[in-house]
Amino acid sequence: MTQGTGVTRETGSYAEVYRESLEEREAFWLEAAKAVDWVDEPTAALDATEPPLYRWFPDGTLNTSYNALDRHVEAGRGDAAALIYDSAVLGVQQTYTYSELTDLVARCAGALHALGVGKGDRVVVYMPMIPEAAVAMLACARLGAVHSVVFGGFAPRELAARIKDARPTVIVTASGGIEPNRRVEYLPAVAEALEIAEMPEVGVVVKVRPGFAHQLADHSDWHDFDALIADAEPAAPVPVAASDPLYILYTSGTTGTPKGVQRDNGGHAVALAWTLKNLYGVGPGEVMWTASDVGWVVGHSYIVYGPLLAGATTLLYEGKPVGTPDAGAFWRVVADHGVKVLFTAPTALRAIRRADPEAALLAGYDVSSLARLYAAGERLDPETYRWAGEKLGVPVIDHWWQTETGWAICGNPRGLVDMPLKAGSPSVPMPGYDLEILDGAGEPVGLGEEGNIVLRLPMPPGTLTTLWHNDERFIGSYLAAFPGYYATGDSGYRDADGYVFVMGRTDDIINVAGHRLSTGSIEAVLAGHPAVAECAVIGLKDSLKGQRAVGYVVLKAGVEMREEDLVPELVALVRQQIGPVADFKQAIVVDALPKTRSGKILRKTMRQIADGEQYTVPSTIEDPGVIERLLPVLQAGGWGS
Ligand code: COA
Ligand code: AMP
Repeated sequence: MTQGTGVTRETGSYAEVYRESLEEREAFWLEAAKAVDWVDEPTAALDATEPPLYRWFPDGTLNTSYNALDRHVEAGRGDAAALIYDSAVLGVQQTYTYSELTDLVARCAGALHALGVGKGDRVVVYMPMIPEAAVAMLACARLGAVHSVVFGGFAPRELAARIKDARPTVIVTASGGIEPNRRVEYLPAVAEALEIAEMPEVGVVVKVRPGFAHQLADHSDWHDFDALIADAEPAAPVPVAASDPLYILYTSGTTGTPKGVQRDNGGHAVALAWTLKNLYGVGPGEVMWTASDVGWVVGHSYIVYGPLLAGATTLLYEGKPVGTPDAGAFWRVVADHGVKVLFTAPTALRAIRRADPEAALLAGYDVSSLARLYAAGERLDPETYRWAGEKLGVPVIDHWWQTETGWAICGNPRGLVDMPLKAGSPSVPMPGYDLEILDGAGEPVGLGEEGNIVLRLPMPPGTLTTLWHNDERFIGSYLAAFPGYYATGDSGYRDADGYVFVMGRTDDIINVAGHRLSTGSIEAVLAGHPAVAECAVIGLKDSLKGQRAVGYVVLKAGVEMREEDLVPELVALVRQQIGPVADFKQAIVVDALPKTRSGKILRKTMRQIADGEQYTVPSTIEDPGVIERLLPVLQAGGWGS
């Protein structure tokens, strides 16, 4: 075993590992790369010949699905559990061994290949939380095809925007999803999205689920997932370059057009394998449960790829933290499947706490298998952190990351070393993330002072390589503001122990129930209503979901529409055009919006007033009277919080 990298060392200090990852970058990541089985082993870690674009393991070739599946079977672990499906909404539990999952994925890959999907082609996956979603993703990886998963809570127009950009050969979907209060019909949404995208030629594969109004019979040229797979020839893993794309995942930018975050194969596999061992402390024979959705980056990394790359068991849960059937659902799943590590969003913990403040339902379950609880997606507020730790009696570990980075920028590497935890902090930078905090002029701020959190280039393996077909937007969005750095878009500070505290976004992105949304895209929908002259959407504090989107709208001159008639129409419009995921429920009619003399709406000031924070009105304000008139409206805006 080589001494000196985080991968093989069983003991050792965080500081040393972190230093090595930056100062001995090549050696560190080449050593980490040994956790992956390569077709051609890389001889170099980083290709920095075209900054600011970087590629990891430039001469390596591999297949990600082989690494996640076949190699564990070949190592004699074919009978070990790879994936446990637990559906709280159907009352179904099913375990897939590594052999079974490999076989399913190989046949799904064969079926997709027969439909014309080859290396580099895109496949959109629009599915609920069922095992076939993971199978479809891994089947794409097997073919060297590029999947783009779209969260089921997005409306047809959002799906269409992603289809238009990714230009897939095939869409894999299901006939329906089950939300606690309703059934989600996917097929009309797919049909509408293909029409909006003007891409009727895209092949559609449907996992038929009983009990939905719309079924395959309505679409004669669409394919039945099960029938295709039953007849398919298994496909072998196709070797791809480490830098070839594995997937595109669209995320909200500050404009209405989502950004297609592109992830590679090699860097991704190496980074995730490192995290399973060192950040989560999970390995073969252990169950990791990430209670998220495959539509989000957390689901990509830690429902599908990470645990399987490590040969562990992943748990795919179809259900909610509360209401399926109660706030004991998470504890039931931990007990039923011997979960070692649970990873969820703080919103889910707050929802459980709200329904069962004393965690009385815990008493009914043996959760002694649980070693650690991880949280991400939004800031883990100290109160929830303390509550969960107290009730569960295990370390509660906040870690901070983004769709773009694919794994934690800051975390507490429990598999490596026991470091103290601090309430309100996701702990320290992970290897390869050279983190700095800069003021608006690009100068470092002092300890304890809040500023822009930036990462010095290059970022570590597994982080985005670019935006799909759009290097220019990638550079403009992330690398231009602070030359030489990636701007995270988050602000925060560092304390004297080097712990980072992430305080919030510096842009117009908000986070509702751990779901990232652009206020700009909601504004675009509201502005499309014939009665609306202009509007501003801001994210206000919400005690359950972290933030909620609230729209302030100004009516067109001469329009006399009552607020109680307009608001339901606006709410319906956002639901129809963005989707239920936006969770947009509140709009307020105002007579004017506060603006600077150059016409910029003072959203930050509005948010500060509504959230009851200290605020300053910029001297560039066009009409101070507008703020004065708005004060009572904004201050009363704390509806439902
Ligand atoms: N498909 C279709 N609709 C979906 C959906 C999906 N996959 N996921 C959510 N929705 C819908 C919900 O049904 C709800 O619709 P409604 O307005 O008709 O009730 C709407 O989107 C808002 O959903 P959500 O914000 O999830 O609220 P909720 O009230 O249904 O549930 C919680 C509240 C706290 C249980 C839920 O927000 C939760 O589990 N949060 C954790 C989020 C998470 O894991 N994020 C991942 C980031 S790591
Ligand atoms: P997403 O790309 O959907 O994962 O959202 C990323 C954004 O969520 C980050 O830029 C942060 O603003 C926020 N976020 C995620 N995890 C955390 C965390 N642990 N603490 C604070 N903010 C977080």
